[in-house]
Amino acid sequence: MAILITGGAGYIGSHAALELLRRGFDVVVVDNLSNSHEAAIDRVAELAARPVPFHRVDIRDRAALDQVFRTAPIDAVMHFAGLKAVGESVGQPLRYYDNNISGTIVLLEVMKQHGVRTLVFSSSATVYGDPASVPITEDFPLSAVNPYGRSKLFIEEMLRDLCRAEPEWRVALLRYFNPSGADPSGRIGEDPNGIPNNLVPFIAQVAVGRLPEVAVFGTDYPTRDGTGVRDYIHVVDLVVGHINALEKLAAGPGLVSYNLGTGRGYSVLEMIEAFGRAAGKTIKYRLAPRRPGDAAECWSDASRAERELGWRATRGLDDMCRDVWRWQSNNPNGYA
Ligand code: NAD
Ligand code: UD1
Repeated sequence: MAILITGGAGYIGSHAALELLRRGFDVVVVDNLSNSHEAAIDRVAELAARPVPFHRVDIRDRAALDQVFRTAPIDAVMHFAGLKAVGESVGQPLRYYDNNISGTIVLLEVMKQHGVRTLVFSSSATVYGDPASVPITEDFPLSAVNPYGRSKLFIEEMLRDLCRAEPEWRVALLRYFNPSGADPSGRIGEDPNGIPNNLVPFIAQVAVGRLPEVAVFGTDYPTRDGTGVRDYIHVVDLVVGHINALEKLAAGPGLVSYNLGTGRGYSVLEMIEAFGRAAGKTIKYRLAPRRPGDAAECWSDASRAERELGWRATRGLDDMCRDVWRWQSNNPNGYA
């Protein structure tokens, strides 16, 4: 079975490519490298000991994408390509809507033209907006609090409409909580551009000496230690969930949605401490005001995925920190 991976040079897409190859799938990667490096593809090929067909293509480029579908038979698509920086999306909404929404429309049209109607989509827990309570189930009301989130929400709506209009489509909406971790080889991992916005890459860069200290955003949340609580999920568990979703889609047409999380939350201070343990260092931090827009707690009820996909996260916090540290310490400047 051949899977087209859009955004396959990126953090999650490269791990998905590797896991698929390890399980004997064929993959074809499409990425415009706007937020990634071709070296990630080379390393996936090295780890899998198989060549990885790669096309440097923007998914909005219909002719180029059509050409990709002509070069190899494709059975299904895992769609990771998208811009994902929340703050940037507030300043550049049109760029986000064009890249994420227009890109997905072109992808769906080209898929349809080639008779490919199976799609696994990277959604996000951001589609729950500011959730009224935790844990979050898939039935919670959906909303968006920034243009990035709105792009994900709109793509979900579009896919629901498409499946209603053309019931032969098979679509899985996978709502990720906080992906972290790296392949245990330490050869591929998350390599954010500039100063990281997300907690774990920030801590990792402090640990490796690229940044002086972590700012803990908010110490007065109604949580066990006053700092924000999130559901950090190992990227390898996450991509395994995509493969289970593909199997589910093979059983019949329709649209399904799943939370991909661990079902438990850790606070910012717990993350700093766990990372320090993994790296064998004390991570320097300072207490800082809340970051606007942050919820106190966000963690999943992942029982639907367990029930219907037979999937649950098996890697814990210490695995996650150890694997991020191996990646970061072996590649202090990422792929550069
Ligand atoms: P990433 O930036 O590392 O990967 C995305 C990849 O898509 C990059 O390689 C980028 O170059 C490529 N890309 C972007 N626009 C493209 C376009 N128009 N054409 C072709 N390629 C394009 O991000 P990631 O963390 O791997 O995230 C993958 C997906 O998962 C994204 O859609 C993101 O919104 C979603 N997601 C990520 C997280 C997270 O915390 N990382 C959480 C929830 C959802
Ligand atoms: C953020 C995005 C979310 C996106 C996700 C993955 C926001 C509001 N939400 O989620 O849409 O899907 O990233 O890309 O941006 N923290 C610190 N210090 C830091 C960084 C973070 O204390 O330097 C805290 C935050 O306040 C939060 C926790 O760490 O409590 C996790 O933050 P982060 O990694 O940015 O993820 P989210 O905010 O959950």
